[in-house]
Amino acid sequence: MTVNRYDLADRFSRRFGGSPRWIVRAPGRVNLIGEHTDYNEGYVLPMAIDRAVWIALRERDDRRVVIHSVNYDQSGDFSLSRIEKVDRGWLEYFKGVAWALEEVGLRLEGWEGVVEGDIPVGAGLSSSAALELAVARAFAAVAGLPWDAVAMAKLGQRAENEWIGVRCGIMDQLVSAAGRAGHALRIDCRSLDLEPVPIPESLAVVILDTGTRRGLVDSVYNQRRAECESVARFFELKSLRDLDVDRFQQVAQQLEQSARRRARHVVTENDRVLQAVDSLRREELTAFGVLMNKSHVSLREDYEVSSGALDAMVEAAVAQPACYGARMTGAGFGGCAVAVVDSCLAEHFAACVASEYQKATGNTPATYACQPADGAEVLF
Ligand code: GLA
Repeated sequence: MTVNRYDLADRFSRRFGGSPRWIVRAPGRVNLIGEHTDYNEGYVLPMAIDRAVWIALRERDDRRVVIHSVNYDQSGDFSLSRIEKVDRGWLEYFKGVAWALEEVGLRLEGWEGVVEGDIPVGAGLSSSAALELAVARAFAAVAGLPWDAVAMAKLGQRAENEWIGVRCGIMDQLVSAAGRAGHALRIDCRSLDLEPVPIPESLAVVILDTGTRRGLVDSVYNQRRAECESVARFFELKSLRDLDVDRFQQVAQQLEQSARRRARHVVTENDRVLQAVDSLRREELTAFGVLMNKSHVSLREDYEVSSGALDAMVEAAVAQPACYGARMTGAGFGGCAVAVVDSCLAEHFAACVASEYQKATGNTPATYACQPADGAEVLF
């Protein structure tokens, strides 16, 4: 099921009467390489995908926000004059973003709208970040706020961290805000410098959904973050970003085994991202794929955030001749893997991987070749 803006405008008319004044969309993302490095102020290389959260909306003059969610078939509303946390449902993302925008002194206006998304939830494709950025785009449109992608991504992250309570890094929000069609985005998560890197025509990016959903992800995520922060403190560094591979090898013996493995993942992953960006720019796709494979091994062995299903999917993918490389993507423990493959053979590749994976695990997978998309935008 993909969202279509005309159907969405229609749904708006049936619910609220008349036409929406704006349609906004913000994409999900797939991360090509650089996993669990963003909150260590390191490097990542995600790309925004052609799956998104869409909102059709129109201004109101009573400072209320009234929304109908097509995916949940539920409606909700709140007043901007009194934003209160109630539970963990989908409406909290709207309130969290409104709260974060008002916290920095932006004056918001009310609106009514219909929201619909086609990013699978909990699959590691950043449906929450997409929702946050779509909501920020909606508020910006109604109140006539200037759109600064980096600032808005930070506010989306703040909503996620402080309102929703997940201590995520900046990657998902930033690529959803600032993605560029045809490109991946190299992000320096310390300076927040962005560098679009073209995806060659000959390369297809295939998302391989294991059909499993992460369970303990939030608690293990926060635990890994804390483990990294404690290694940084041990070496009196601001973050693990400040440790390069050579220096790490000199000091690694001072760490106990598990801390050493966590840090080794982050340090080597940062190095792999930089090499991967060079390979992609030179269209050295074999070298790029090798780095992705290494990233998966590091996430599985050192960072311990993969799962049996993700490992089986990656194994099925790399066994295919069309595949340059494959790895888990996102926080881990379930959800999706990503493969980069020869674009002429992408369909055959996806069919073979799905069948091998299903044979090996009994799970029903979903596969899609995705297109690198633009970040959050107002369509009209
Ligand atoms: C989640 C978080 C991101 C990032 C990834 C792991 O997607 O939201 O900030 O940490 O996990 O790379």
